[in-house]
Amino acid sequence: MATETWLITGGAGYIGTHVADLFIADGKDVVLLDSLYQGLESRVIYLRKKHNEEIPLHVVDIRDYTAVENILKSQTFTGIVHTAALKAVGESVEKPDEYKEVNFTATVELLKLAQKYGVKKFLFSSTAAVYGSPDTTEPCKENGPLSPISPYGSTKLDAESKVTEFINAPGNSGSSFRFFNVVGAASQELLDNSVENLVPIVLGKLNKGDAPVIFGIDYPTADGTCVRDYVDVRDIAAAHLTAANATKLIPAIINVGTGRGASVREIINLVLDAVNKSNTEVIEAPRRAGDPAFLCADVELAAKEMGFRSKYSLEESIRSLF
Ligand SMILES: NC(=O)c1ccc[n+]([C@@H]2O[C@H](COP(=O)([O-])OP(=O)(O)OC[C@H]3O[C@@H](n4cnc5c(N)ncnc54)[C@H](O)[C@@H]3O)[C@@H](O)[C@H]2O)c1
Repeated sequence: MATETWLITGGAGYIGTHVADLFIADGKDVVLLDSLYQGLESRVIYLRKKHNEEIPLHVVDIRDYTAVENILKSQTFTGIVHTAALKAVGESVEKPDEYKEVNFTATVELLKLAQKYGVKKFLFSSTAAVYGSPDTTEPCKENGPLSPISPYGSTKLDAESKVTEFINAPGNSGSSFRFFNVVGAASQELLDNSVENLVPIVLGKLNKGDAPVIFGIDYPTADGTCVRDYVDVRDIAAAHLTAANATKLIPAIINVGTGRGASVREIINLVLDAVNKSNTEVIEAPRRAGDPAFLCADVELAAKEMGFRSKYSLEESIRSLF
């Protein structure tokens, strides 16, 4: 069988490099595109050494449509994994236009170019933020209520519908994966360098000698703190590989989580244990607006339609960071 070649946008990012790592291990060629706005070339250099391969990295802004077209026209791609995006929820409120340009408009343009150059498979990085702030302790189902509360979530939801149109065209396939809270790392070189998720936030505080903060201790959950679904980045990569190798069509929208919830307090305690600082003071602050008590994935669709379930426990994910 001819070697497959996949274009990975955001290919120097946290998730993009984990997908690249697994795809290469599976015998696929990958071409990476990243503006290096948040991505790290050092991650790509690590992958080149690890796999002893010259992995092309195009340092291109996804909004530079001529440059993106030049990449797509230069060779045949089996599929695109589209992870490039801006993902800071708070920042998206301050810069809604930029979030729309990068997360929505550039996705639409990429889909048009994929269609033009005969790329048949498209895997889009969506997010649990499309569910907004549900007032329930039921896991979110793909066909359940959608109500993003930030421009970040809205731009991803709008992009999903364009991805679905592409996937529904004859001969095309793929999915929008709604990732929940992504944690862990396959190696130290591929760690998450953003401060959007709880675990990097807690680690950042500890490194500076500051106390971790819990926002809200009076939620209707077992320990009063918010519960989220933390899924290992290696499982996220595995879901992409499963989809890339699927021999039948998969649903256009799939949650990728664990189906298990962990509370903010549990996470902080796990991190403190991992760094031998279990006696560290933890600050309890008032709730933040818009934080739902409970946001976890219903993962049955991924299991049923794609044969995919996450493998890593939260403890393994936290341990992988050290
Ligand atoms: N990490 C999570 O918990 C999580 C959860 C849900 C969804 N997601 C989604 O997964 C995807 C990957 O997230 P990540 O955690 O790897 O973040 P990341 O910031 O590490 O990766 C995104 C990459 O996109 C690149 N990028 C940003 N703007 C660009 C532009 N204009 N042109 C080209 N490249 C650009 C960045 O440089 C970065 O390398 C994103 O779409 C994000 O919305 C992530």
